[in-house]
Amino acid sequence: MARLCVNIDHVATVRQARRTVEPDPVTAALLCELGGARGITVHLREDRRHIQDRDLQILRQVVRTKLNLEMAATQEMVKIALLVKPDQVTLVPERREEVTTEGGLDVALYRQQLQKYAGLFREAGISLSLFIDPDPDQVQAAHFVGAQYVELCTGPYSLARTELERKPKYEMLVNSARMAKKLGLRVNAGHGLTYENVRPVAALEEVEELNIGHSIVSRAILTGMERAVREMADIIRQARHEPD
Ligand code: PXP
Repeated sequence: MARLCVNIDHVATVRQARRTVEPDPVTAALLCELGGARGITVHLREDRRHIQDRDLQILRQVVRTKLNLEMAATQEMVKIALLVKPDQVTLVPERREEVTTEGGLDVALYRQQLQKYAGLFREAGISLSLFIDPDPDQVQAAHFVGAQYVELCTGPYSLARTELERKPKYEMLVNSARMAKKLGLRVNAGHGLTYENVRPVAALEEVEELNIGHSIVSRAILTGMERAVREMADIIRQARHEPD
């Protein structure tokens, strides 16, 4: 059965909207673990738009399952990862102007650099995962570089609007997962997965972990809204009857 790893970036997005202290992604991480998450994923972006360095340091201390740090393949980030020592690093492409990661890393193009980083992470005892498009050349390149995992990008599968559009995207995932497994790579998947579209991906026996963020944080906001409003309304109702 695939393990669920929850990406909590967007808890920090809400906090950063006010540059305040709530909601705290660390508290969210602990609640995710209580709810059955088998790992916590955060993306420390170069522009620090959501997760901050301090969050990462505290998460390293409190996460009991698996801490997966998503990051760009840059020297600055590699240095941070080697200091913080997450259980796993997932390298992703990153552009400042993007709203979210827009596709897989071109591992074939950056082989040499990635091979060097793979060696550093191996020495530090950190697993390396490469976020790639479900494309045979990228799978081959990930194997060549010496990563332990690939994370197959489910973005195009998730964006497909009709069954006709979705089928070929799903087949690409299936074929890449099989190929990766044959090469001895471990397989994760994620991006854009929702309560509606996750089932066929979760059913793939090659897939060990699913990284899901936006959809879970979105649902948490809505399922928690009624209770949050009731609690505030109760405080307001009781305020005039209570001594200071
Ligand atoms: N996997 C990777 C590599 C990602 O960059 C992201 C988004 O940060 C996710 C998974 C989670 O995607 P979503 O938030 O759409 O579930």
